Amino acid sequence: MGAITGASPAVGSFLIHRSNRRRTMRARMAVQSSNAISVAPILTGLKNDCATPLPVLRHVADEMTADMRAGLAIDGGSELKMILSYVDSLPSGNEKGLFYALDLGGTNFRVLRVQLGGKDERVIATEFEQVSIPQELMFGTSEELFDFIANGLAKFAEKEGGKFHIPQGRKREIGFTFSFPVKQISIDSGILIKWTKGFAVSGTAGKDVVACLNEAMERRGLDMRVSALVNDTVGTLAGARYWDDDVMVAVILGTGTNACYVERMDAIPKLQGHVSPSARTIINTEWGAFSKGLPLTKFDKDMDAASINPGEQIFEKTISGMYLGEIVRRVLYKMAEAGALFGDSNSDKLSKPFVLGTPDLCAMQQDNSENLEVVGSILSDVVGVKLYCHCMVKSDLTARKMVVDVCDTIVKRGGRLAGAGIVGILHKMEEDSRGLIFGKRTVVAMDGGLYEHYPQYRSYLCDAVTELLGVEKSKNLVIEHTKDGSGIGAALLAATNSKYGHDF
Ligand code: BGC
Repeated sequence: MGAITGASPAVGSFLIHRSNRRRTMRARMAVQSSNAISVAPILTGLKNDCATPLPVLRHVADEMTADMRAGLAIDGGSELKMILSYVDSLPSGNEKGLFYALDLGGTNFRVLRVQLGGKDERVIATEFEQVSIPQELMFGTSEELFDFIANGLAKFAEKEGGKFHIPQGRKREIGFTFSFPVKQISIDSGILIKWTKGFAVSGTAGKDVVACLNEAMERRGLDMRVSALVNDTVGTLAGARYWDDDVMVAVILGTGTNACYVERMDAIPKLQGHVSPSARTIINTEWGAFSKGLPLTKFDKDMDAASINPGEQIFEKTISGMYLGEIVRRVLYKMAEAGALFGDSNSDKLSKPFVLGTPDLCAMQQDNSENLEVVGSILSDVVGVKLYCHCMVKSDLTARKMVVDVCDTIVKRGGRLAGAGIVGILHKMEEDSRGLIFGKRTVVAMDGGLYEHYPQYRSYLCDAVTELLGVEKSKNLVIEHTKDGSGIGAALLAATNSKYGHDF
Protein backbone atom coordinates (compact mmCIF):
# COMPACT_ATOMS: atom_id res chain seq x y z
CA MET A 1 0.00 0.00 0.00
CA GLY A 2 1.49 3.34 -0.98
CA ALA A 3 2.15 5.69 1.89
CA ILE A 4 -0.12 8.35 0.54
CA THR A 5 -3.29 6.29 0.50
CA GLY A 6 -3.15 5.88 4.23
CA ALA A 7 -2.30 9.53 4.75
CA SER A 8 -5.11 10.99 2.69
CA PRO A 9 -8.05 12.62 4.40
CA ALA A 10 -11.15 10.67 5.31
CA VAL A 11 -12.60 10.15 1.89
CA GLY A 12 -16.24 10.60 2.84
CA SER A 13 -15.76 14.01 4.39
CA PHE A 14 -13.41 15.55 1.87
CA LEU A 15 -14.39 18.82 0.29
CA ILE A 16 -11.90 21.27 -1.19
CA HIS A 17 -12.18 24.73 0.37
CA ARG A 18 -11.22 27.84 -1.53
CA SER A 19 -9.07 30.59 -0.24
CA ASN A 20 -10.89 33.88 0.26
CA ARG A 21 -8.40 35.63 -1.96
CA ARG A 22 -9.22 33.53 -4.94
CA ARG A 23 -12.91 33.53 -4.19
CA THR A 24 -13.04 37.29 -4.45
CA MET A 25 -10.60 37.45 -7.37
CA ARG A 26 -12.71 35.50 -9.76
CA ALA A 27 -16.34 36.36 -9.91
CA ARG A 28 -16.92 33.83 -12.64
CA MET A 29 -16.15 31.10 -10.21
CA ALA A 30 -19.31 31.91 -8.29
CA VAL A 31 -21.32 29.89 -10.74
CA GLN A 32 -18.91 27.00 -10.67
CA SER A 33 -18.70 27.26 -6.90
CA SER A 34 -22.38 26.72 -6.48
CA ASN A 35 -22.18 23.72 -8.77
CA ALA A 36 -19.06 22.38 -7.21
CA ILE A 37 -19.60 19.07 -5.59
CA SER A 38 -17.32 17.22 -3.27
CA VAL A 39 -14.55 15.30 -5.00
CA ALA A 40 -14.96 12.58 -2.40
CA PRO A 41 -17.55 10.52 -4.26
CA ILE A 42 -15.34 10.54 -7.36
CA LEU A 43 -12.39 9.18 -5.42
CA THR A 44 -14.49 6.67 -3.52
CA GLY A 45 -16.05 5.46 -6.74
CA LEU A 46 -12.64 5.20 -8.38
CA LYS A 47 -11.24 3.13 -5.53
CA ASN A 48 -14.23 0.80 -5.57
CA ASP A 49 -14.10 0.33 -9.31
CA CYS A 50 -10.33 -0.29 -9.30
CA ALA A 51 -10.26 -2.61 -6.31
CA THR A 52 -8.31 -5.82 -6.80
CA PRO A 53 -8.98 -7.99 -3.74
CA LEU A 54 -7.83 -11.59 -3.86
CA PRO A 55 -11.01 -13.01 -5.49
CA VAL A 56 -10.70 -10.51 -8.36
CA LEU A 57 -7.03 -11.40 -8.83
CA ARG A 58 -7.84 -15.10 -8.75
CA HIS A 59 -10.54 -14.66 -11.33
CA VAL A 60 -8.18 -12.73 -13.63
CA ALA A 61 -5.44 -15.36 -13.23
CA ASP A 62 -7.90 -18.17 -13.99
CA GLU A 63 -9.27 -16.38 -17.03
CA MET A 64 -5.72 -15.84 -18.25
CA THR A 65 -5.00 -19.58 -17.92
CA ALA A 66 -8.26 -20.47 -19.72
CA ASP A 67 -7.59 -17.98 -22.52
CA MET A 68 -4.09 -19.36 -22.99
CA ARG A 69 -5.53 -22.84 -23.52
CA ALA A 70 -8.19 -21.54 -25.91
CA GLY A 71 -5.55 -19.67 -27.92
CA LEU A 72 -3.32 -22.75 -28.11
CA ALA A 73 -6.24 -24.90 -29.30
CA ILE A 74 -6.99 -23.04 -32.51
CA ASP A 75 -5.90 -19.84 -34.21
CA GLY A 76 -8.32 -17.12 -33.17
CA GLY A 77 -9.58 -19.29 -30.29
CA SER A 78 -9.17 -16.49 -27.76
CA GLU A 79 -8.12 -12.90 -27.24
CA LEU A 80 -4.64 -14.24 -26.56
CA LYS A 81 -3.03 -14.98 -29.89
CA MET A 82 -0.54 -17.45 -28.41
CA ILE A 83 1.87 -16.93 -31.29
CA LEU A 84 4.44 -19.57 -32.16
CA SER A 85 7.86 -17.95 -32.07
CA TYR A 86 9.67 -20.69 -34.03
CA VAL A 87 12.34 -20.37 -31.38
CA ASP A 88 12.77 -24.02 -30.57
CA SER A 89 16.26 -23.92 -29.17
CA LEU A 90 17.50 -21.33 -26.77
CA PRO A 91 21.07 -20.07 -26.63
CA SER A 92 23.40 -22.64 -25.12
CA GLY A 93 26.43 -20.48 -24.41
CA ASN A 94 28.40 -22.01 -27.30
CA GLU A 95 27.50 -19.19 -29.69
CA LYS A 96 30.50 -17.51 -31.29
CA GLY A 97 31.06 -14.62 -33.66
CA LEU A 98 29.78 -11.13 -34.42
CA PHE A 99 26.03 -10.57 -34.46
CA TYR A 100 23.81 -7.52 -34.70
CA ALA A 101 20.45 -6.77 -33.17
CA LEU A 102 17.86 -4.23 -34.17
CA ASP A 103 15.17 -3.40 -31.66
CA LEU A 104 11.99 -1.60 -32.69
CA GLY A 105 9.24 -1.44 -30.15
CA GLY A 106 8.50 2.01 -28.88
CA THR A 107 9.51 5.58 -29.28
CA ASN A 108 13.16 4.58 -29.72
CA PHE A 109 14.91 2.02 -31.79
CA ARG A 110 18.18 0.49 -30.75
CA VAL A 111 20.98 -1.06 -32.72
CA LEU A 112 23.48 -3.29 -31.06
CA ARG A 113 26.42 -5.50 -31.94
CA VAL A 114 27.87 -8.24 -29.83
CA GLN A 115 31.00 -10.33 -30.20
CA LEU A 116 30.35 -13.74 -28.71
CA GLY A 117 33.18 -15.96 -27.57
CA GLY A 118 31.54 -19.31 -26.79
CA LYS A 119 31.38 -21.12 -23.43
CA ASP A 120 34.59 -19.71 -22.01
CA GLU A 121 34.53 -16.12 -23.13
CA ARG A 122 30.79 -15.58 -23.43
CA VAL A 123 30.11 -11.92 -24.30
CA ILE A 124 33.45 -10.43 -25.37
CA ALA A 125 32.14 -6.98 -26.24
CA THR A 126 28.92 -5.12 -26.96
CA GLU A 127 28.16 -1.71 -28.38
CA PHE A 128 24.82 -0.07 -28.95
CA GLU A 129 23.18 3.12 -30.09
CA GLN A 130 19.70 4.39 -29.49
CA VAL A 131 17.82 6.62 -31.89
CA SER A 132 14.50 8.22 -31.10
CA ILE A 133 11.83 7.83 -33.74
CA PRO A 134 10.42 11.16 -34.90
CA GLN A 135 6.74 11.41 -33.99
CA GLU A 136 5.68 11.89 -37.61
CA LEU A 137 7.20 8.54 -38.59
CA MET A 138 4.83 6.78 -36.19
CA PHE A 139 2.00 8.02 -38.40
CA GLY A 140 3.81 7.94 -41.74
CA THR A 141 4.27 5.22 -44.34
CA SER A 142 5.92 1.86 -43.94
CA GLU A 143 8.69 2.82 -46.37
CA GLU A 144 9.52 5.99 -44.46
CA LEU A 145 9.78 4.12 -41.17
CA PHE A 146 11.89 1.25 -42.50
CA ASP A 147 14.15 3.61 -44.48
CA PHE A 148 14.80 5.52 -41.27
CA ILE A 149 15.66 2.29 -39.46
CA ALA A 150 17.89 0.95 -42.25
CA ASN A 151 19.70 4.26 -42.33
CA GLY A 152 20.35 4.14 -38.56
CA LEU A 153 21.55 0.55 -38.84
CA ALA A 154 23.86 1.39 -41.76
CA LYS A 155 25.44 4.31 -39.90
CA PHE A 156 26.02 2.09 -36.87
CA ALA A 157 27.49 -0.75 -38.94
CA GLU A 158 29.94 1.67 -40.57
CA LYS A 159 31.50 2.32 -37.16
CA GLU A 160 32.35 -1.34 -36.55
CA GLY A 161 35.93 -1.96 -35.49
CA GLY A 162 38.05 -2.78 -32.46
CA LYS A 163 36.98 -6.03 -30.85
CA PHE A 164 34.31 -6.69 -33.47
CA HIS A 165 35.20 -8.67 -36.56
CA ILE A 166 33.44 -10.79 -39.13
CA PRO A 167 35.16 -13.64 -40.99
CA GLN A 168 35.81 -12.93 -44.66
CA GLY A 169 33.02 -13.71 -47.07
CA ARG A 170 30.25 -13.73 -44.46
CA LYS A 171 27.25 -11.49 -44.28
CA ARG A 172 26.53 -9.72 -41.05
CA GLU A 173 23.52 -11.33 -39.41
CA ILE A 174 20.83 -9.54 -37.46
CA GLY A 175 18.37 -10.54 -34.79
CA PHE A 176 15.38 -8.26 -35.39
CA THR A 177 13.34 -7.53 -32.29
CA PHE A 178 10.02 -6.25 -33.50
CA SER A 179 7.73 -5.63 -30.54
CA PHE A 180 4.30 -5.67 -32.09
CA PRO A 181 1.90 -8.54 -32.73
CA VAL A 182 3.31 -10.54 -35.63
CA LYS A 183 2.09 -13.81 -37.03
CA GLN A 184 5.36 -15.59 -37.26
CA ILE A 185 5.76 -17.72 -40.40
CA SER A 186 9.24 -18.97 -39.68
CA ILE A 187 12.10 -17.92 -37.43
CA ASP A 188 13.04 -15.22 -39.93
CA SER A 189 9.72 -13.97 -41.27
CA GLY A 190 6.39 -12.80 -39.92
CA ILE A 191 3.33 -10.79 -40.86
CA LEU A 192 2.36 -7.72 -38.84
CA ILE A 193 -1.15 -8.28 -37.46
CA LYS A 194 -1.65 -4.71 -36.22
CA TRP A 195 0.27 -1.84 -34.72
CA THR A 196 -0.01 -1.10 -30.99
CA LYS A 197 1.38 1.52 -28.58
CA GLY A 198 0.22 4.51 -30.60
CA PHE A 199 1.86 3.50 -33.89
CA ALA A 200 -0.36 3.94 -36.95
CA VAL A 201 2.06 3.43 -39.83
CA SER A 202 0.27 2.81 -43.11
CA GLY A 203 1.06 -0.08 -45.38
CA THR A 204 2.74 -2.49 -42.94
CA ALA A 205 -0.16 -4.47 -41.47
CA GLY A 206 -0.53 -7.71 -43.41
CA LYS A 207 3.07 -7.56 -44.69
CA ASP A 208 6.19 -9.50 -43.77
CA VAL A 209 8.17 -7.05 -41.64
CA VAL A 210 11.46 -8.75 -42.48
CA ALA A 211 10.75 -8.21 -46.17
CA CYS A 212 10.01 -4.54 -45.38
CA LEU A 213 13.37 -4.24 -43.62
CA ASN A 214 15.22 -6.15 -46.38
CA GLU A 215 13.78 -3.85 -49.04
CA ALA A 216 14.82 -0.78 -47.04
CA MET A 217 18.34 -2.21 -46.54
CA GLU A 218 18.55 -2.84 -50.26
CA ARG A 219 17.51 0.74 -51.02
CA ARG A 220 20.27 1.88 -48.63
CA GLY A 221 22.82 -0.54 -50.17
CA LEU A 222 23.24 -2.40 -46.88
CA ASP A 223 24.11 -6.06 -47.22
CA MET A 224 22.98 -7.70 -43.99
CA ARG A 225 20.76 -10.70 -43.35
CA VAL A 226 17.95 -11.04 -40.79
CA SER A 227 18.38 -14.52 -39.35
CA ALA A 228 15.87 -14.21 -36.51
CA LEU A 229 12.71 -12.16 -36.09
CA VAL A 230 11.68 -12.05 -32.46
CA ASN A 231 9.26 -10.30 -30.16
CA ASP A 232 10.90 -8.35 -27.30
CA THR A 233 9.54 -10.83 -24.74
CA VAL A 234 11.18 -13.67 -26.67
CA GLY A 235 14.46 -11.75 -26.91
CA THR A 236 14.31 -11.11 -23.16
CA LEU A 237 13.69 -14.77 -22.41
CA ALA A 238 16.58 -15.83 -24.66
CA GLY A 239 18.90 -13.19 -23.18
CA ALA A 240 18.07 -14.18 -19.60
CA ARG A 241 18.27 -17.90 -20.35
CA TYR A 242 21.81 -17.45 -21.65
CA TRP A 243 22.85 -16.84 -18.03
CA ASP A 244 20.26 -18.84 -16.13
CA ASP A 245 18.70 -22.18 -17.12
CA ASP A 246 15.72 -21.71 -14.80
CA VAL A 247 14.21 -18.83 -16.79
CA MET A 248 10.81 -20.03 -18.03
CA VAL A 249 8.79 -16.83 -18.52
CA ALA A 250 9.62 -13.31 -19.73
CA VAL A 251 7.44 -10.25 -19.20
CA ILE A 252 7.74 -6.73 -20.58
CA LEU A 253 6.17 -3.90 -18.59
CA GLY A 254 7.10 -0.70 -20.34
CA THR A 255 5.26 1.49 -22.83
CA GLY A 256 3.37 -1.66 -23.78
CA THR A 257 3.14 -5.05 -22.15
CA ASN A 258 3.41 -8.70 -23.09
CA ALA A 259 4.62 -12.08 -21.86
CA CYS A 260 6.10 -15.23 -23.35
CA TYR A 261 6.97 -18.60 -21.86
CA VAL A 262 8.48 -21.99 -22.63
CA GLU A 263 5.75 -24.40 -23.81
CA ARG A 264 5.72 -28.12 -24.55
CA MET A 265 5.05 -28.88 -28.21
CA ASP A 266 2.52 -31.56 -27.26
CA ALA A 267 0.49 -28.94 -25.37
CA ILE A 268 -0.17 -26.93 -28.54
CA PRO A 269 -3.12 -28.55 -30.33
CA LYS A 270 -3.21 -25.91 -33.09
CA LEU A 271 0.29 -26.84 -34.11
CA GLN A 272 0.31 -29.02 -37.16
CA GLY A 273 3.39 -30.45 -38.73
CA HIS A 274 5.91 -28.29 -36.91
CA VAL A 275 8.42 -30.38 -35.01
CA SER A 276 11.04 -29.20 -32.63
CA PRO A 277 14.04 -31.34 -31.69
CA SER A 278 13.80 -30.06 -28.14
CA ALA A 279 10.03 -30.82 -27.91
CA ARG A 280 9.67 -27.30 -26.55
CA THR A 281 9.11 -23.89 -28.03
CA ILE A 282 8.48 -20.34 -26.92
CA ILE A 283 4.96 -18.99 -27.13
CA ASN A 284 4.39 -15.24 -27.40
CA THR A 285 1.06 -14.79 -25.61
CA GLU A 286 0.40 -11.17 -26.71
CA TRP A 287 -1.38 -10.80 -23.39
CA GLY A 288 -1.94 -7.08 -23.97
CA ALA A 289 -5.12 -8.07 -25.81
CA PHE A 290 -6.56 -9.90 -22.78
CA SER A 291 -9.66 -8.35 -21.18
CA LYS A 292 -11.61 -10.88 -19.10
CA GLY A 293 -12.55 -10.04 -15.52
CA LEU A 294 -10.65 -6.75 -15.40
CA PRO A 295 -12.00 -4.13 -13.01
CA LEU A 296 -12.50 -1.23 -15.43
CA THR A 297 -13.82 2.26 -14.82
CA LYS A 298 -15.60 4.85 -16.88
CA PHE A 299 -12.23 6.57 -17.28
CA ASP A 300 -10.72 3.44 -18.86
CA LYS A 301 -13.68 3.03 -21.16
CA ASP A 302 -13.57 6.67 -22.27
CA MET A 303 -9.82 6.45 -22.88
CA ASP A 304 -10.29 3.30 -24.92
CA ALA A 305 -13.09 4.83 -26.97
CA ALA A 306 -10.89 7.84 -27.79
CA SER A 307 -7.85 5.71 -28.69
CA ILE A 308 -6.66 4.83 -32.18
CA ASN A 309 -7.46 1.16 -31.46
CA PRO A 310 -10.77 1.11 -29.54
CA GLY A 311 -11.75 -2.24 -28.07
CA GLU A 312 -8.22 -3.58 -28.47
CA GLN A 313 -5.29 -4.11 -26.07
CA ILE A 314 -7.46 -3.68 -22.96
CA PHE A 315 -5.02 -5.36 -20.54
CA GLU A 316 -2.25 -3.21 -21.99
CA LYS A 317 -4.39 -0.08 -21.56
CA THR A 318 -4.99 -0.99 -17.91
CA ILE A 319 -1.49 -1.95 -16.78
CA SER A 320 1.17 -0.48 -19.07
CA GLY A 321 3.25 2.69 -19.03
CA MET A 322 1.74 4.33 -22.06
CA TYR A 323 -1.66 4.59 -20.42
CA LEU A 324 -1.39 4.93 -16.63
CA GLY A 325 -0.66 8.67 -16.79
CA GLU A 326 -3.55 9.22 -19.15
CA ILE A 327 -6.02 7.39 -16.91
CA VAL A 328 -4.91 9.53 -13.96
CA ARG A 329 -5.22 12.69 -16.07
CA ARG A 330 -8.80 11.79 -16.94
CA VAL A 331 -9.66 11.25 -13.28
CA LEU A 332 -8.03 14.54 -12.23
CA TYR A 333 -9.77 16.41 -15.01
CA LYS A 334 -13.11 15.07 -13.86
CA MET A 335 -12.26 16.01 -10.26
CA ALA A 336 -11.22 19.48 -11.36
CA GLU A 337 -14.30 20.08 -13.45
CA ALA A 338 -17.00 18.43 -11.38
CA GLY A 339 -15.47 18.61 -7.93
CA ALA A 340 -13.27 21.71 -8.11
CA LEU A 341 -10.24 19.72 -6.96
CA PHE A 342 -7.90 22.56 -7.80
CA GLY A 343 -10.14 25.38 -6.64
CA ASP A 344 -10.35 28.07 -9.28
CA SER A 345 -7.05 27.17 -10.85
CA ASN A 346 -7.34 26.93 -14.60
CA SER A 347 -7.37 23.32 -15.79
CA ASP A 348 -7.25 23.90 -19.57
CA LYS A 349 -3.92 22.14 -19.94
CA LEU A 350 -5.29 19.20 -18.00
CA SER A 351 -7.88 18.66 -20.71
CA LYS A 352 -5.13 17.68 -23.16
CA PRO A 353 -4.87 13.89 -23.67
CA PHE A 354 -1.56 12.32 -22.62
CA VAL A 355 -0.23 15.56 -21.12
CA LEU A 356 0.50 13.65 -17.91
CA GLY A 357 2.97 10.80 -18.35
CA THR A 358 3.55 7.73 -16.20
CA PRO A 359 7.02 9.07 -15.22
CA ASP A 360 5.17 12.08 -13.72
CA LEU A 361 3.02 9.75 -11.60
CA CYS A 362 6.16 7.96 -10.50
CA ALA A 363 7.90 11.22 -9.53
CA MET A 364 4.83 12.32 -7.57
CA GLN A 365 4.65 9.03 -5.71
CA GLN A 366 8.30 9.32 -4.65
CA ASP A 367 7.71 12.77 -3.14
CA ASN A 368 8.42 12.52 0.59
CA SER A 369 8.54 16.25 1.30
CA GLU A 370 6.19 17.63 3.91
CA ASN A 371 4.30 19.89 1.52
CA LEU A 372 4.57 17.55 -1.46
CA GLU A 373 6.70 20.05 -3.36
CA VAL A 374 7.36 17.73 -6.31
CA VAL A 375 3.65 17.09 -6.71
CA GLY A 376 3.08 20.84 -6.66
CA SER A 377 5.66 21.56 -9.32
CA ILE A 378 4.51 18.73 -11.60
CA LEU A 379 0.94 19.96 -11.32
CA SER A 380 2.11 23.44 -12.17
CA ASP A 381 4.65 22.61 -14.92
CA VAL A 382 2.93 19.72 -16.63
CA VAL A 383 -0.73 20.23 -15.96
CA GLY A 384 -0.77 24.00 -15.55
CA VAL A 385 -2.40 23.91 -12.12
CA LYS A 386 -0.97 26.32 -9.55
CA LEU A 387 -1.46 25.31 -5.96
CA TYR A 388 0.24 28.24 -4.23
CA CYS A 389 3.37 26.59 -2.89
CA HIS A 390 4.66 29.71 -1.20
CA CYS A 391 1.66 30.21 1.05
CA MET A 392 0.56 26.64 1.41
CA VAL A 393 -3.00 26.52 2.59
CA LYS A 394 -4.54 23.37 3.91
CA SER A 395 -6.80 22.86 0.92
CA ASP A 396 -3.84 22.96 -1.47
CA LEU A 397 -1.94 20.33 0.45
CA THR A 398 -5.07 18.21 0.68
CA ALA A 399 -5.49 18.50 -3.08
CA ARG A 400 -1.90 17.38 -3.62
CA LYS A 401 -2.44 14.39 -1.36
CA MET A 402 -5.53 13.53 -3.25
CA VAL A 403 -3.64 13.65 -6.56
CA VAL A 404 -1.11 11.15 -5.16
CA ASP A 405 -3.99 9.01 -3.94
CA VAL A 406 -5.42 8.88 -7.46
CA CYS A 407 -1.99 7.90 -8.86
CA ASP A 408 -1.67 5.20 -6.26
CA THR A 409 -5.11 3.78 -7.02
CA ILE A 410 -4.38 3.41 -10.73
CA VAL A 411 -0.82 2.16 -10.26
CA LYS A 412 -1.88 -0.34 -7.61
CA ARG A 413 -4.52 -1.81 -9.89
CA GLY A 414 -2.00 -2.02 -12.75
CA GLY A 415 0.74 -3.70 -10.72
CA ARG A 416 -1.62 -6.18 -9.08
CA LEU A 417 -3.27 -7.16 -12.36
CA ALA A 418 0.14 -7.67 -13.95
CA GLY A 419 0.96 -9.98 -11.04
CA ALA A 420 -2.28 -11.91 -11.62
CA GLY A 421 -1.36 -12.30 -15.29
CA ILE A 422 2.00 -13.81 -14.35
CA VAL A 423 0.33 -16.25 -11.97
CA GLY A 424 -2.12 -17.23 -14.72
CA ILE A 425 0.83 -18.24 -16.92
CA LEU A 426 2.61 -20.11 -14.13
CA HIS A 427 -0.56 -22.05 -13.28
CA LYS A 428 -1.00 -23.10 -16.89
CA MET A 429 2.57 -24.37 -17.00
CA GLU A 430 2.29 -26.15 -13.68
CA GLU A 431 -1.03 -27.82 -14.61
CA ASP A 432 0.64 -29.39 -17.63
CA SER A 433 3.82 -30.52 -15.93
CA ARG A 434 3.28 -30.97 -12.23
CA GLY A 435 6.18 -29.90 -10.07
CA LEU A 436 8.16 -28.42 -12.94
CA ILE A 437 7.24 -24.87 -12.00
CA PHE A 438 6.47 -24.72 -8.29
CA GLY A 439 8.52 -27.75 -7.32
CA LYS A 440 11.82 -26.16 -8.26
CA ARG A 441 13.43 -22.76 -8.76
CA THR A 442 11.64 -20.91 -11.56
CA VAL A 443 12.67 -17.51 -12.88
CA VAL A 444 10.44 -14.88 -14.48
CA ALA A 445 12.63 -12.41 -16.40
CA MET A 446 11.20 -8.90 -16.34
CA ASP A 447 12.09 -5.87 -18.43
CA GLY A 448 10.60 -2.48 -19.25
CA GLY A 449 10.76 0.97 -17.74
CA LEU A 450 7.59 0.63 -15.72
CA TYR A 451 8.92 -2.36 -13.82
CA GLU A 452 12.42 -0.97 -13.61
CA HIS A 453 11.70 2.58 -12.50
CA TYR A 454 8.43 2.49 -10.56
CA PRO A 455 9.04 0.98 -7.09
CA GLN A 456 5.38 1.09 -6.03
CA TYR A 457 4.25 -0.65 -9.20
CA ARG A 458 6.90 -3.30 -8.73
CA SER A 459 5.98 -4.01 -5.15
CA TYR A 460 2.23 -4.14 -5.90
CA LEU A 461 3.03 -6.69 -8.59
CA CYS A 462 5.15 -8.82 -6.26
CA ASP A 463 2.59 -8.60 -3.43
CA ALA A 464 -0.15 -9.84 -5.73
CA VAL A 465 1.97 -12.78 -6.89
CA THR A 466 2.69 -13.80 -3.29
CA GLU A 467 -0.94 -13.39 -2.26
CA LEU A 468 -2.07 -15.61 -5.11
CA LEU A 469 0.57 -18.31 -4.79
CA GLY A 470 0.92 -18.40 -1.03
CA VAL A 471 4.24 -18.24 0.78
CA GLU A 472 5.34 -21.85 0.09
CA LYS A 473 5.03 -21.75 -3.70
CA SER A 474 6.41 -18.22 -3.85
CA LYS A 475 9.66 -19.38 -2.26
CA ASN A 476 10.75 -21.10 -5.45
CA LEU A 477 9.77 -18.22 -7.68
CA VAL A 478 12.31 -15.57 -8.63
CA ILE A 479 11.13 -12.43 -10.38
CA GLU A 480 14.25 -10.92 -11.83
CA HIS A 481 14.93 -7.74 -13.71
CA THR A 482 16.84 -8.43 -16.93
CA LYS A 483 17.92 -5.06 -18.18
CA ASP A 484 17.96 -4.68 -21.96
CA GLY A 485 17.98 -8.44 -22.31
CA SER A 486 15.98 -8.36 -25.51
CA GLY A 487 18.78 -6.81 -27.61
CA ILE A 488 21.43 -9.33 -26.62
CA GLY A 489 18.76 -12.04 -26.70
CA ALA A 490 17.91 -11.22 -30.31
CA ALA A 491 21.60 -11.25 -31.27
CA LEU A 492 21.97 -14.62 -29.53
CA LEU A 493 18.99 -15.97 -31.45
CA ALA A 494 20.55 -14.65 -34.66
CA ALA A 495 23.59 -16.73 -33.70
CA THR A 496 21.52 -19.82 -32.84
CA ASN A 497 19.81 -19.54 -36.21
CA SER A 498 22.84 -18.44 -38.19
CA LYS A 499 23.01 -19.88 -41.68
CA TYR A 500 26.70 -20.47 -41.09
CA GLY A 501 26.18 -22.44 -37.89
CA HIS A 502 28.32 -21.16 -35.06
CA ASP A 503 31.31 -23.41 -35.17
CA PHE A 504 34.10 -21.08 -36.14
C1 BGC B 1 3.00 -5.51 -28.35
C2 BGC B 1 3.86 -6.70 -27.98
C3 BGC B 1 5.09 -6.24 -27.22
C4 BGC B 1 4.69 -5.39 -26.04
C5 BGC B 1 5.87 -4.88 -25.23
C6 BGC B 1 2.72 -4.67 -27.12
O1 BGC B 1 2.03 -3.50 -27.50
O2 BGC B 1 1.78 -5.95 -28.90
O3 BGC B 1 4.24 -7.42 -29.15
O4 BGC B 1 5.80 -7.36 -26.80
O5 BGC B 1 3.94 -4.27 -26.49
O6 BGC B 1 6.74 -4.11 -25.98
